[in-house]
Amino acid sequence: MSARPGFVVWFTGLSGSGKSTLATLLSAELAHRGVHVEILDGDEVRRHLSKGLGFSREDRDTNVRRIGFVAKLLARAGACAMTAAISPYRDVRDELRRDIGRFLEVYCRCPVDVLAARDPKGLYVKALAGEIAHFSGVTDPYEEPLAPDVVVDTSAETKEQSVAKILEVIEQKGYLEETRAPALPAPHGGTLVAAPLVVPPANARALHASAEDAIWLELAALGALSPVGGPLGEKDAVRVRKEQRLESGRAWPFAWLLECPFEAREGEILLVEGTPFALVAHETFRLGERRFVSGAVAMTDPSWMRGAETRSPRWVREILAEQGGGAVGRVVRAEAEPLPRSEEAGAPVVLLAAGVRVAAPGSLVVELPRLPALGEVGDALLEVVLLRNYGVGAAVVHSMTGVLAAFSRAELGVELRSA
Ligand code: ADX
Repeated sequence: MSARPGFVVWFTGLSGSGKSTLATLLSAELAHRGVHVEILDGDEVRRHLSKGLGFSREDRDTNVRRIGFVAKLLARAGACAMTAAISPYRDVRDELRRDIGRFLEVYCRCPVDVLAARDPKGLYVKALAGEIAHFSGVTDPYEEPLAPDVVVDTSAETKEQSVAKILEVIEQKGYLEETRAPALPAPHGGTLVAAPLVVPPANARALHASAEDAIWLELAALGALSPVGGPLGEKDAVRVRKEQRLESGRAWPFAWLLECPFEAREGEILLVEGTPFALVAHETFRLGERRFVSGAVAMTDPSWMRGAETRSPRWVREILAEQGGGAVGRVVRAEAEPLPRSEEAGAPVVLLAAGVRVAAPGSLVVELPRLPALGEVGDALLEVVLLRNYGVGAAVVHSMTGVLAAFSRAELGVELRSA
């Protein structure tokens, strides 16, 4: 079976700069090449998904994030999602680019005087007369992309020239190439979480992390704990304790909690003492006497990320995908464990060395921190989650595979073999 992973074409530019027109023309070209395309047009989205939102910065960011969310789902389902909203703020566009991955930003550049001369909706006349208080490009900001994948100059090029330019870049990026059958299992929960880089404010508050917290933070920052990107919120924590599942129903090995002595604001960046990480706070809640904070792990030090890249699931997955997938993997917790060998397995072998040194020529060895003990089921489940995130199709787990009997094979997503 061949498949073509989806992608997002993100048009950005002022009202009337040609975003929707180019999206429509481009969609015809892509449909002709067998790509399923969906267009998320700003004006249309504001009649449905974003009904009631206005044009303040906050409302625009909400609108754009909603569009991004839907675009991501569409791309994940194999479609090309094209968005045509002004999306005036760079931060949110960049955030979505990081989050979505296969993402092409197309800047429709056109000077305001040309737009005002075209003005099919009569909006520029009003805005220039001061009748629309926050009109993008006139009385409201528009932040140009600093590194768009394509710039189309819609005041000078023909529509056909612009479409041809975009198509060329889509092809260059390889987004139209078919891939072989998806030999790698999907990450646990469907997506790999990528920790963003944040710049904490000078007065950022700090959290204390235990040695065990630091381990989970590191694994989360690598994306190894996907779909969990940080310590759990109250509902997830309670459910995991009860039945080893997240609120979404996904099997999950342990209730990861992070203590927080104060009430954190939503979105507050909290430094984690003694680590290169921060937490973008979500909720603060109490369980019993203690107070905890949930959120997403972020990196505060870009050099950590660069050094850690080769230990990330994304990187290992790329290598395995090139080798055709089907890898067998094992989490190695102690020196001198019997290790699967690629000659015997007839497949690539991935070893996740959890705090131990592993010498296994021919295997792909990923150095991870030592894993805290989670009990028999938790340990086995954590191994499955890690191995699956690293793209391994068959997991050799330490415990008897029977301990995972409460979970279906489909949801675990890897073939289990006992050591
Ligand atoms: S965005 O900023 O949130 O991305 P979006 O693309 O959804 O904007 O909506 C822009 C459309 O709304 C414009 O094409 C125009 O028809 C209409 N509009 C109404 N008021 C404004 C305004 N103040 N600024 C920009 N566009 C506006």
